[in-house]
Amino acid sequence: MTVYRDVVSVMEVRSFAESDRAELRALSVRAGEGSPTASLWGHPESEQSIYLDPYMDLAPDTLFLAVRDGALVGYLTGCPDGTKLPGESELIDAAIRKHRLMRRPVARAFFARAMFDSAASALRRRPTAGEFHDGRWPAHLHINVAPEARGTGAADALMNRWLDHLRAAGSPGCHLQTLVENPRAVRFFARMGFTEHGAAPLVPGLRYEGRKVHQRTMVRAL
Ligand SMILES: CC(C)(COP(=O)(O)OP(=O)(O)OC[C@H]1O[C@@H](n2cnc3c(N)ncnc32)[C@H](O)[C@@H]1OP(=O)(O)O)[C@@H](O)C(=O)NCCC(=O)NCCS
Repeated sequence: MTVYRDVVSVMEVRSFAESDRAELRALSVRAGEGSPTASLWGHPESEQSIYLDPYMDLAPDTLFLAVRDGALVGYLTGCPDGTKLPGESELIDAAIRKHRLMRRPVARAFFARAMFDSAASALRRRPTAGEFHDGRWPAHLHINVAPEARGTGAADALMNRWLDHLRAAGSPGCHLQTLVENPRAVRFFARMGFTEHGAAPLVPGLRYEGRKVHQRTMVRAL
């Protein structure tokens, strides 16, 4: 456990415990606020089934929580080897079926736009966003900090805890995928030692402030 103190509050970073599940689900709905991935198709439960539940179920020891004055304010879902988790496309397909997303107008519009974007990119022979697998950087992470805890060191503490874990485990490196249109996140990751890797392909279906967005892969050796 890592504890950070200042004059008014105490912040702790620790691993996820089963008793955190409900509070973490509630935090995840608001922790992306203001960023391009705050909501994908307007249905938190199905989005969590792809981007949160697999980490709570299959990688709880490397799901780190920032807790300030007893309340969760941020989390980092880390996985030392992404091939140990179900793939994103597989999880999306399962979520579409389980949550009957095609019956929900916002989700239906998202997936229709995604199909159109993918087809248009294929016609122009342009790649689109996808999962990243490279043995040099097998670990990956996602991080979200609630608005009230940004700029307080909570994100740094989560990331340092994760990097310490990877070093201790002998991991060669870590990658992450964010968006070009999320400059605060890109700046934060660069400050934490990650560098941009490869092209920045279109993310099918997703829009931020009415515009298309592009995947930014970043890597860090350990
Ligand atoms: C991306 C994210 C995790 C970055 O966290 P953050 O706290 O905003 O990190 P920042 O680097 O922007 O930190 C802001 C400032 O706090 C400062 N800071 C760092 N540690 C600090 C500490 N202990 N005390 C006070 N300030 C501190 C940083 O130096 C930075 O200042 P600067 O911008 O003048 O350099 C966070 O903004 C977030 O969760 N955003 C929404 C979701 C998101 O985009 N997630 C990433 C998706 S890939």
